Amino acid sequence: MKAGIIGTGLMGSALAKCLSSKGIDLLVYNRTRSKAEKLCEDIKCKVVDSPKDMSVADYIVIFVFDDEALDNVVFGDNGLAYMDNKEVYILNSSTVSPRISAVINKKLSSLGFKHYYEAPVYGSVDEASSCSLVSMLAGSSKNLDDVVEFAKNYSVETIYVGEIPKAMALKLSLNNIGLSLPPIIAESLAILESYNVDLEKFLHISEKLWFGRLVKRYIERIRNTGKIRFTVKGAAKDYRLISTTLSINEYPSILSSALKNFYTSAISKYGGVDYPKAANWILKKPLG
Ligand SMILES: NC(=O)c1ccc[n+]([C@@H]2O[C@H](COP(=O)([O-])OP(=O)(O)OC[C@H]3O[C@@H](n4cnc5c(N)ncnc54)[C@H](OP(=O)(O)O)[C@@H]3O)[C@@H](O)[C@H]2O)c1
Repeated sequence: MKAGIIGTGLMGSALAKCLSSKGIDLLVYNRTRSKAEKLCEDIKCKVVDSPKDMSVADYIVIFVFDDEALDNVVFGDNGLAYMDNKEVYILNSSTVSPRISAVINKKLSSLGFKHYYEAPVYGSVDEASSCSLVSMLAGSSKNLDDVVEFAKNYSVETIYVGEIPKAMALKLSLNNIGLSLPPIIAESLAILESYNVDLEKFLHISEKLWFGRLVKRYIERIRNTGKIRFTVKGAAKDYRLISTTLSINEYPSILSSALKNFYTSAISKYGGVDYPKAANWILKKPLG
């Protein structure tokens, strides 16, 4: 089996490590070619010049940043849409708006492509490189078994959600919960900081409450200079998608707009770091 990966950022390169450990032949493409070349020095894979050059692949997984990036790699110069192989399975794992995913599905289908699937994942870099992601799938149920079989290579569980764009909607609604916590914790930390209250006392009492485990986990990630799992820039992007998705469906987006502003304001100082660290931008004495 041959697989292609488009986008060798944090997630694409971690997935490449998993798939190469399974002996799958890998083609990789990245906008900044040097990053893909560096990856193929570490694992067995072949760098191609453009998404279109992945014609020989049976499955292609896309892990790019946002709507614009997805549109570029599919419909831009030498994008996937110009490929001869219309039987290829295209799995979009980038978190994008349900609206653009539905548009891409329609356009690819009108060009004769048979298998576009939404395949967002839960889990991050560690889970991707150790092949233990949770995959959500949306698309035609007709050839679903093939897609599920492929996704099993990197997933501990694969959940079919229905037609496009249901998996993307599910992914956004889950991210909305996880990404909302650091800004809330940040404001609690700011109150503690204002009155010089010992953080350990806050942790001691919260440990006894139902949310204690979450608070502890996020405070650790705010303090530590550990691994980057998902960036502040990525969190700002997700809230942009969440607030727009609510607005276009005529729901108020009061919270997601505020959370988008929170993460967007943190980008200039913390854009490339692990997203919980965005909490530090409102603190006078950052935790880490
Ligand atoms: N990190 C996570 O935990 C996680 C988990 C699940 C889903 N996701 C989603 O997966 C996607 C990738 O995330 P990531 O964390 O791997 O992000 P990342 O490290 O920032 O990588 C982003 C990738 O997108 C490419 N890209 C950005 N803008 C582009 C454009 N305009 N045209 C073409 N390519 C472009 C980048 O290429 P360059 O190298 O040239 O910049 C890079 O390969 C995102 O949608 C994210 O929300 C992430």
